[in-house]
Amino acid sequence: MLMLSIESSCDETAAAVTRDGREVLSNVVASQAGFHARYGGVVPELASRLHIERINQVVREALSRAGTTSAGIDAIAVVNRPGLIGSLLVGVCAAKTLAWAWGKPLLDVDHIHGHIHSCTLEQPAPVQWPAVALVVSGGHTALYECTDEVTRRVIGRTRDDAAGEAFDKVAAILKLGYPGGPLIDRLARQGNPRAYDFPRSLPRRDDLDFSFSGLKTAVLYTVRGQPGVHRHDAKHRAADEVVGGGSGRESGSASLSEPGPTFVFNADAVELTDAVKADIAASFQAAVVDVLVRKTMRAVGRTGARSILVGGGVAANRGLRAGLAEAVAGTGLGLHFAPPSLCTDNAAMACVAYHKFVRGQFAELSLPALAG
Ligand code: KG4
Ligand code: ZN
Repeated sequence: MLMLSIESSCDETAAAVTRDGREVLSNVVASQAGFHARYGGVVPELASRLHIERINQVVREALSRAGTTSAGIDAIAVVNRPGLIGSLLVGVCAAKTLAWAWGKPLLDVDHIHGHIHSCTLEQPAPVQWPAVALVVSGGHTALYECTDEVTRRVIGRTRDDAAGEAFDKVAAILKLGYPGGPLIDRLARQGNPRAYDFPRSLPRRDDLDFSFSGLKTAVLYTVRGQPGVHRHDAKHRAADEVVGGGSGRESGSASLSEPGPTFVFNADAVELTDAVKADIAASFQAAVVDVLVRKTMRAVGRTGARSILVGGGVAANRGLRAGLAEAVAGTGLGLHFAPPSLCTDNAAMACVAYHKFVRGQFAELSLPALAG
């Protein structure tokens, strides 16, 4: 059974052709990251406009790379929730139009379910159920108890930022660029993970929820200094004139020995050298990984799971992969990461809709896009 699937929930325009919910014949992703980089995050309106420009070409490319045409396709699946509403609407509209024009059944997909399913694709060994799934992406961080391919229950989630969001924000604080996860991942390899003792937020002992906003703030204060701790001195004033450049004063026109109220500095801010950035990246990543690993293992203990599935953009993180591999060593637990090409958003993961197809659970052409 050949399925064309479409995913456009955030800033990737994606289409894929898969066979029987397992075999990926083509997986085309047109990333918009370059367009959003200058804003330090996804701009929803820009994302939906770019989806409209690209969706037809991406679908055509997916069919052609799979060596098929509309005639060879048995069903069309589309991610219709959750995500940015304008972005979702483009994919949903395209899928409905093709389903109607080609006379094919339509199937709806939950983005998170897609991320979990991607952990079952291209695996050296089949997944042993029940499993605990950790979904860690830019928009979501949650733990699920999965009894089989289609049944899942949320057992923990973030109370504030998603893990990927924390990576992106910390990368912005360190002035690394966007998306931040891969950049921090790379930089962390050169740094000391024990250089900074960033907080691990484990709200309650038996809790499976996450919280990353305190960690993000701790990094911010490390870099910029504690608010309210100010220093007025000549050395720092001079630095501000050079960095600020737009203070309206000619550099050097003010006397450096003259104290004044114009310049305010946080006394304990660090100088962001390459070595300091690497140490902060490594220490931040170690704190995120520590919490993710501990909560995931706690979830395994609580559910009696036989395997761990890890999907979403942050599943590509080398520190997380190493941390979980170490935690399961000698336990007999299966550990399944989404293949690197299927960690970040893609349409192949939407082939989880195959399980709906075999059950005859088709969507209507009135299928809505749902942000939440
Ligand atoms: O799953 P995804 O493509 O989008 C959402 O569904 O949100 O995940 C994107 C997120 C971004 O926040 C990105 O910084 C993060 O995944 N990410 C990583 C890595 N690669 C991507 N975070 C940490 N380490 C990585 N290697
Ligand atoms: Zn995602």
